[in-house]
Parts: sequence; structure tokens; C-alpha cells
Amino acid sequence: MRLRVLGSAAGGGFPQWNCNCRNCAGVRAGTLRARVRTQSSIAVRGADPAAWVLVNASPDVLAQLRAFPDFQPARAPRDSALAGIVLVDGQVDHSAGLFMLREATRPWPLWCTDSVYADLTRGNPILTVLGHYCGVQRRRIGLEGEPFEIAGVPGLQWRAWPIAGKPAPFSPNRERPQRGDNIALEITDTATGGTAFYAPGLGAIDDLLFARMQGADCVLVDGTFWTDDEMIRLGLANKTARDMGHLPQSGAGGMLEWLARLPRATRRVLIHINNTNPILDEDSGERRELDRLGVEVAYDGMEISL
Ligand code: MLT
Ligand code: MN
Ligand code: ZN
Repeated sequence: MRLRVLGSAAGGGFPQWNCNCRNCAGVRAGTLRARVRTQSSIAVRGADPAAWVLVNASPDVLAQLRAFPDFQPARAPRDSALAGIVLVDGQVDHSAGLFMLREATRPWPLWCTDSVYADLTRGNPILTVLGHYCGVQRRRIGLEGEPFEIAGVPGLQWRAWPIAGKPAPFSPNRERPQRGDNIALEITDTATGGTAFYAPGLGAIDDLLFARMQGADCVLVDGTFWTDDEMIRLGLANKTARDMGHLPQSGAGGMLEWLARLPRATRRVLIHINNTNPILDEDSGERRELDRLGVEVAYDGMEISL
């Protein structure tokens, strides 16, 4: 399997257009050693080099596709290497890009849970609007870990696990989260056995979910915030990371403690990084701590082979 990080930032990207936090101002001015990052998405392929699955449709999807010529195999006047789309939640940073893909010549095979499908046909009816363009062929993701395959993308097996998180602000379920609002994906290459665990929004980890993480060769997990009160301390929001459905990296019970308990050989990657997170600054103490712990920070264009 080849996994390519299309966008490694959280909603807003890095720098965020209206943000003057230390990171955003520094990268804009060229005084901070950090990479610019687009909003959250990955693409994955199995045995066929010209058949990819887009996982999450970022508002930046067009630039992300342009940055990687393999996505345009040019076998026909209208063509794409993307054979299907999987969504891990219905948040704007993971779904707004669907509008940018409206010129498809056939309905998009779109895999999502029932609650994400409901949010994207009610609270934010993107899929209804898309029906006036290419439309979607909706495929249901079950919540019991049932394996599924994506037609046209051979050599990959997919499983989803419901995780703690928050549905988007427009969701009728915002204050009553449902199972399936957010999922983690487990993607296995059926030839090599290599497994990736991908959860860009992960509010909490329990023993069942940790067992799935332990079985993966590579985990790509929520890297949104370093501290629980990061946005409050910066005066940018009045919600904690956990309030927003994101487990912070530092502190008791934080992501780094969980990652430290994984088998030594597991590759650990933080992804969906908010622009305020000090780990974006390659000269920060927090980044040095990650280096010491063997935890990587995803960047746009990062490729992982499993
Ligand atoms: C989140 O995951 O909390 C988001 O990045 C929200 C957003 O898309 O603005
Ligand atoms: Mn997000
Ligand atoms: Zn910022």
C-alpha cells in the first residue's frame, strides 16, 4: 500500500488566512522554520498504481491533486486516478472539497457512516447539492468493524471503528454525539499484510481502540493540539481540545502517553495539526521532544509504504 498525505493541517490550514498566532505570523514572515500545510486529507492505493482512494475531501483538494501528477493518468479526455472517496466525519475540512470534485463523469462512490450521511444531507446538505452535478453513489460504512473493499482499488481491505469525537457544529447531533459521527480507519494491504490506522480526529482512546492501534504497522493520529487549553491560553477560543473532540498530545492521559505504549516497531505519525500547535515550529522544544520519542509530524506530500 502507498499512503500519501495530501493535507496535514487541521481546519483552517497553516498559516490560517486570518490568524496572527506565533506560528502563523512566523511562517508568513519567513522567521519561523516550518512548512506550510493544507487541510486534512490522505490518499491510499493498493496493487494498482493508477487507482487511489481519497480519504476526506479537503477544501484544498484541487491544489492537493495538482501537486501529484499520478492522480491524472490521462487515459481518456476526462480522467482521474481517484476511484472512490471515504469520509471519516462530516466536518467542513473533510467534506467541502466534494464541491470541487463536481465535474466527475459518473457519480462518486462515497463511503461514510449513517450519521455522516445524515449530516451531509441535512445540517449541511452537500450531497443533495452534488446531486445536481455528478451525484454520489453512497456506500454505507458499518460500525462493527465489518471489512469492506472499494471497487476498482484492488489489494486493500478497509475496516472502520467508531471513536469519541464531536460532530460538526451544523450537525443536529452536535450536543448529543452519536456512534459513527467520527471513525478511525484501519487499512490493510492484502498482499503485504501492512496495516495503517488513521484517525485525524480522535477525542479519546479506550482499550478496544488501543488494541486496534497496537495491531497497526503505522498509526496516523490526531495531532491537532499540544495542550488541552491551547486555544484558551492564546485567547483564540473558549473551548478545550477535548471539548472540540481532540485528545491533546501533552499531559496525563494525552496522546504521547498512548503512543509510548505501542510496540517499538510501530511508526507513529501526528496528523491534522492545528496552526497553533508548537510542534509545527521545527526548532521548538516540543518538536525536539517528539524526535526523542520517535514520533513523526506529518507534512503535505509525505509518503508511507506498507
Ligand atoms: C476539527 O476537526 O475540529 C476541525 O478542523 C474543524 C473545522 O473544520 O473547522
Ligand atoms: Mn478537522
Ligand atoms: Zn495561527
